[in-house]
Amino acid sequence: MHNTRKINDDVYWIGANDKRLSLFESAYPIPSGISYNSFLVLDEKNILFDCVDKSVSRVFFENLSFLLQGKKLDYAVISHVEPDHCASLGELILRFPDVKIIGNAKTLAMLNQFFDFDTNKNAVVVEDGSEISTGKHKFVFYTAAMVHWPEVMVTYDTTDKYLYSADAFGTFGTLNGNIFADEVDFEHDFLDEARRYYANIVGKYGVQVQALLKKAAALEISSILPLHGPIWRKDINSFIDKYQKWSTYTPEEEGVVIAYASVYGNTENAANILAVKLAEAGVKKIAMFDVSVTHPSFVLSQIFKFSHIVFASTTYNSNIFTSMETLLHDVAAHNLQNRTIAFMENGSWAAFSGEKMKEILSPLKDTVFLENTVSLKSSVKQNNLTEIENLTKAIIESFPKGSVTAAITHENKVEPSAFFKITYGLFVLTSAKNGKFDSSDAHGGCIINTVMQITDNPKQIVIAVNKANYTHDLIIESKKFNVTALTTDSHFDVFKRFGFQSGRDVNKFAGFEDACGKSENGLYFINRDANAFFSGEVISAVDYGTHTLFAALVSEAAVLSNGTSLSYQYYFDNIKPKPAPKPAASGKKVYVCRICGHIEEADGELPDDYICPLCKHPKADMELQG
Ligand code: FEO
Repeated sequence: MHNTRKINDDVYWIGANDKRLSLFESAYPIPSGISYNSFLVLDEKNILFDCVDKSVSRVFFENLSFLLQGKKLDYAVISHVEPDHCASLGELILRFPDVKIIGNAKTLAMLNQFFDFDTNKNAVVVEDGSEISTGKHKFVFYTAAMVHWPEVMVTYDTTDKYLYSADAFGTFGTLNGNIFADEVDFEHDFLDEARRYYANIVGKYGVQVQALLKKAAALEISSILPLHGPIWRKDINSFIDKYQKWSTYTPEEEGVVIAYASVYGNTENAANILAVKLAEAGVKKIAMFDVSVTHPSFVLSQIFKFSHIVFASTTYNSNIFTSMETLLHDVAAHNLQNRTIAFMENGSWAAFSGEKMKEILSPLKDTVFLENTVSLKSSVKQNNLTEIENLTKAIIESFPKGSVTAAITHENKVEPSAFFKITYGLFVLTSAKNGKFDSSDAHGGCIINTVMQITDNPKQIVIAVNKANYTHDLIIESKKFNVTALTTDSHFDVFKRFGFQSGRDVNKFAGFEDACGKSENGLYFINRDANAFFSGEVISAVDYGTHTLFAALVSEAAVLSNGTSLSYQYYFDNIKPKPAPKPAASGKKVYVCRICGHIEEADGELPDDYICPLCKHPKADMELQG
């Protein structure tokens, strides 16, 4: 029974899928099958774009008969003679003996090689740029030699602005009802197979694909209709961009493919150690393959994707292990370029494989071979760990600056004092229990250093507040706060009042009302040694572990004085009392909090999770005395 899909008013998909074929071209595993697309344009003269593989010819002819409804098939365009599209041409001619075959000179010559019928009879020979009109539609033919055979051509419909692209923009995988790329999750479900199709089928012919892309760039294209895989009618450039990268041998991503061939698992062990070291150094994209297990077409595809490749092979009969040798010849045959390559070799009595692997790949253009070959004698030994570390370092250094961020550990990468170099101000943050703004003991306040304006229109700010502060909880409840910007005239007392005691225990405003005002939202602000206040209405709160980041709309703001805004640095240098060095009692170490001056005595190092009991700052702010 026929099974077609309409593409527009007069264009139809009349192709079919094959899920039974295990090896496409008797070479490439296709676990998701393959589609053979064919398109019929019904016009004053009806025109067919390509036939299908013989495995699906039955439904193809049912589709054709169903849509033609007894009308004539005037033209059959042969974009590509390869039998996955052309095998059913013989039967087509038997069924439609008057059909005119459109092809270029090479097409017709090749048809004569594959078929016994006279292909020159009824042939319409076209050249690059030739045009044919079928009534409403006008088609222009463009040669696309070596994408994927010498005779290949694509056709541009100037009416619909469709590009019938032959093998170009094709992919492995069947079309399961949804024939358009925008109907499927292409990136998730098709991209890997599209890359594998490209790399293996036309990967060698980057120059020729570039030539086709240049021709296509001059056309206004609304849809791309390939002979395999989904039709592109939206977001076409995203796929063209992939073709640009693939055809110029530009890696899609910075990352490392580790392809290994291991007989007893020792070379594999070295490959795995390298993978962990790369990961620890911050490489996020690592693809690993046992090339004796994974078909080379999959490995080649990932090699086309990533920037770096490490080939690891045991030495076998004084040469490379066979499965690795197959892969390397495949890589060389597909003209890979622009990569950074390294080797790991193994040999119980003579490790030759590194040198032999490089020999095969040495013709690759614009390729950097790292000198740090890891050489095992049977299994990984201590000296090999050093070699692997050196190779890791060489790989990391070969990445573009900034593209790989080393895995961060607090022990070796984050210097707490670096954060003191960020400029901060100092502010009194105030809030109150919801609905109790009239009662001074319902108010709370604390010192914060992080206030930032995020937009000008409307005026919005963010503040970061330690969750341990009572004021934090008041803001969560009331969704309102005031921020007062302090000046360099501030006294240490204000920090003691708002910073070194908890609003859960004391009323911080008791006896301090004279130094405060109230804004329109009913909350206190500080009007002594301050130069501005801001009233915020919370619009979002994001949890960052110890702190909450509140974003707020500013409902009121006023300048209180011309005093100079107080910086954190100024506070440390001029306001915070210098702690008198205290003799250590009974050999204990003495730490002084650089924020609030709290003195802590300890038998040894303060624990990593130490928090200052007064100001809640961490161990990094505790200075060892003496
Ligand atoms: Fe889909 Fe080159 O054939």
